[in-house]
Amino acid sequence: MTEQTFDREAALNILRRNDRGGYTVPTHGLYPFQWSWDSAITALGWLQIDEQRAWQEAETMFRGQWDNGMLPHILFHGDSTTYFPGPDVWGATDGIPSSAISQPPVWATTLRMLYERCSDRALAEDSLRALLPKLVAYHDWWYTERDPDRTGLVCSYHPWESGMDNSPAWDAPLARVPEIDWSYQRRDLGHVDSEQRPKKAEYDRYLYLVDFYKRHGFDSDAIYRECPYRILDTGIISILHRASEDLQHLCSATGESDAAARLGDCMSRTAGAVSRLWSAERRCFLNYDVLAGEPLDEVTTGTVLPLLAGLADDDQAAAMAALMGDWLDASSFGLASTHPSSPRYEPQRYWRGPVWLHINWLLALGLERYSAADLAQRLRSSALDCVRTSGFWEYFDAETGAGCGGDSFSWTAAIALHWLGAEP
Ligand code: DGY
Repeated sequence: MTEQTFDREAALNILRRNDRGGYTVPTHGLYPFQWSWDSAITALGWLQIDEQRAWQEAETMFRGQWDNGMLPHILFHGDSTTYFPGPDVWGATDGIPSSAISQPPVWATTLRMLYERCSDRALAEDSLRALLPKLVAYHDWWYTERDPDRTGLVCSYHPWESGMDNSPAWDAPLARVPEIDWSYQRRDLGHVDSEQRPKKAEYDRYLYLVDFYKRHGFDSDAIYRECPYRILDTGIISILHRASEDLQHLCSATGESDAAARLGDCMSRTAGAVSRLWSAERRCFLNYDVLAGEPLDEVTTGTVLPLLAGLADDDQAAAMAALMGDWLDASSFGLASTHPSSPRYEPQRYWRGPVWLHINWLLALGLERYSAADLAQRLRSSALDCVRTSGFWEYFDAETGAGCGGDSFSWTAAIALHWLGAEP
C-alpha cells in the first residue's frame, strides 16, 4: 500500500463535486464535458467508494461511440460557454455531439481492473457483458481505420488525440499544418495562466485539423490519405497494446474466443513492427512523423510507455529504466513529461515538462512488469509528493511541485485514491 500523503476525503470530494450524474468532468470550467481517457481513469477513483458509479462512467462514455467503433475523445453532454472548441466547431452531431478524434485507449485496462476488483460480482459480470462488444469494436476500429495497410503501428491525426497535446514532440509536424484563416476566442485562457497553456500558433493549427475532418465528412479513407498530420505515437501504440492484452484476457475469460484471436493477431503485428521506433542513442522508442518519413527526436514520457505494454525486449527495458533513473534525478518532482535536458523543456507549460499523476501511474505499472519495482515505487512517491505539496491539480511544475492547469482535478484525485486503495 502506498503511504498516505494526502487527504482521502478531499480527493473523494473532488470526484463528488465533478460528478455530473453518470459522468465526471475533469474539472469545473476548463473542461466541462466528458473526456474519454480522463473518464476511464476517474472510474478507478469511483471504484474506491461506489462500484456502480465506477461502471456508469464507462456506460455513459460508450453511449457516444460512433457506428464505426470510434470512441470520441470528448462527449458534449450539454451546452457550456466555458469551453472552446465546442460541438458547433467539430460538426459531429449525429447522436451525442462529440469530437471527431479519439484519445489514448486506456479503457480496457481500467475496466479489467474494475472487473477483477469489484466486490459485487453480479454487477461486474453484467456490466462487463454489456461493455465487451463495444470495447472490441473500439479496438477493431483502431486496428483497421488507423492502420489500413496493416503495418502493426496505428496512426494519430491530432496532438489532442495523443492526450499529450502540447508535447514538443509534435512541434515539427504541427508546424507544417496550415493555420486557420478565421478568428476565434479561446476559453482556456480565462481559466489558466497563459504560461501554462499552448500558444496561439498551435491553436491555429489544432483548429485547422478540426476543420479538416469536418470538410472531409469524417471519412476515414480520405483522412488517412490526405490529413496533413499523421504520427506514429509511441504513447497511443503502447496504451492500445496493453489495453488489447487486457481486453484479450477479458474476452478469453468470457468465452469470446474469436475476438480474443483477432486481438492476438493485431498484437503480434505490433510486436513485430515496434522495433523500427527504437533509438539506441536516445535509450527509448521515438515517435515517428509519417509524412516527413522521420523519427521525432524528443524524449518524453510517451517514448518510454512501451514498458507498459511489454513491447520492449530486456535490453531495451534496462536502457529505459536507466534513462528514467537519470530523468528522475534531473527534476525535483515526479517524472517530468519532457526530459529536462531538452532545449524545449518548460517545467510548467502544458505537456512540455510538468508532471502528470496518471502518466507516472502507467509508467510505474510498466516498470513493475520488468521487475523494476524499486524504480516504480520511486516514481509513485515522487509523483505523490506533488499532491502532498499542492493538492489535486491537473499537472504540476516539475521543479517546484506547484499546481498548474485546472484545480480540483478528477484524474489526479482518482490515481491518488487508486494508489492508496489498490496497488502495492
Ligand atoms: C483542450 O482543450 O486543451 C483539450 O485537451 C483538448 O482535448
